[in-house]
Amino acid sequence: MEVMLTKTVTERLKTPPASMSGVVFGTVFSDHMFCMDWEDGKGWHNAEIKPYAPLILEPSSMVLHYAQMAFEGLKAYRTDSGEHVLFRPRENFKRMNRTAQRMCLPELDVEEVLSALKQLLRLDSGWVPHESGTSLYIRPTLVATEEAIGLKVSSKYLFFIILSPVGPYFSQGFNPVKIMVSDKYVRAVPGGVGFAKTGGNYAASNLAEKEAKELGYTQVLWLDAVERRYIEEVGAMNIFFVINDEIVTPQLTGSILPGITRMSVLELGKHWGLKVTERRISIDEVLNGLKDGSVTEVFGAGTAAVISPVGVLSYKEEEYQVGNGETGPFANRFYEHLTGIQYGKEADPFGWVESI
Ligand code: PLP
Ligand code: COI
Repeated sequence: MEVMLTKTVTERLKTPPASMSGVVFGTVFSDHMFCMDWEDGKGWHNAEIKPYAPLILEPSSMVLHYAQMAFEGLKAYRTDSGEHVLFRPRENFKRMNRTAQRMCLPELDVEEVLSALKQLLRLDSGWVPHESGTSLYIRPTLVATEEAIGLKVSSKYLFFIILSPVGPYFSQGFNPVKIMVSDKYVRAVPGGVGFAKTGGNYAASNLAEKEAKELGYTQVLWLDAVERRYIEEVGAMNIFFVINDEIVTPQLTGSILPGITRMSVLELGKHWGLKVTERRISIDEVLNGLKDGSVTEVFGAGTAAVISPVGVLSYKEEEYQVGNGETGPFANRFYEHLTGIQYGKEADPFGWVESI
């Protein structure tokens, strides 16, 4: 794939934030973006790195009406030796292709888009922040652009990648969050698009998240849509429980996002010789376990959220404290090792980290 390069004129270059403290996650963008078009009969074409700028889309563009789209989220990290690296980037583009299949979008060539991403990252390398716990968040996005409001599969698409320097996703940083279990709304149904990283899943969860925030909770924990009993995931992360020293997470049923951080936690846990299990977990099992002390930790895992300890769960207006409400030893160990690998502080026995 030939990538055309159009650099921003020097006068237009922006200055990356001197410090990420006080910068809200995902609100600042780098100087350049990658764009590429797809059309029926023509395939992918017009691959170009160009100045970050508004898109020109007709109001009739199909994505604006029927949300035919896919997106991804990954990060570039600055290691202690000053090198820039990606964490398991192929997994993100493979997942984007699985979303694409479900949403009838054209698939990407994983190696080609990874190479284009690296070119973009090399050009905007000054945007990878330096402070501890910060990174450059990468947002690949694929949208339907045919100008038509009849319901059908679009014949034209735009793929783009934008970059945003970020600090912690939650204002709490690596500190316990309060999570509300939703018994009123559901996120995804069997046979639906829960496993896909597509905008509609997030639009559909906004109301529950808004109501939870009004009550003082950070995010919502979703239950299965059929029995409203089995735990699925949190708004922007997968969920883990430590039950009698065993690491337990909901199995992938098609209605939860197969998180790359989730997969990495499972692989790390196995590598350490811990008992790691993917299975159905009911909310009753968790709440009873919190009461009798068999559930000692709850934590979320995601690219934006990293490892996020949960200090309180609320269900049907009752609050349940997790352990003593503090970050537990398992969440701590996963956080330290995962970020240790990402920031080059630790050996990477799995080959997860890839230089740019
Ligand atoms: N679940 C949801 C709904 C998410 O949005 C995310 C974040 O991408 C995750 C889980 C975690 O996935 P990953 O670890 O691949 O970022
Ligand atoms: C992630 O990339 O980790 C996300 O969850 C996407 C977004 C909700 C921040």
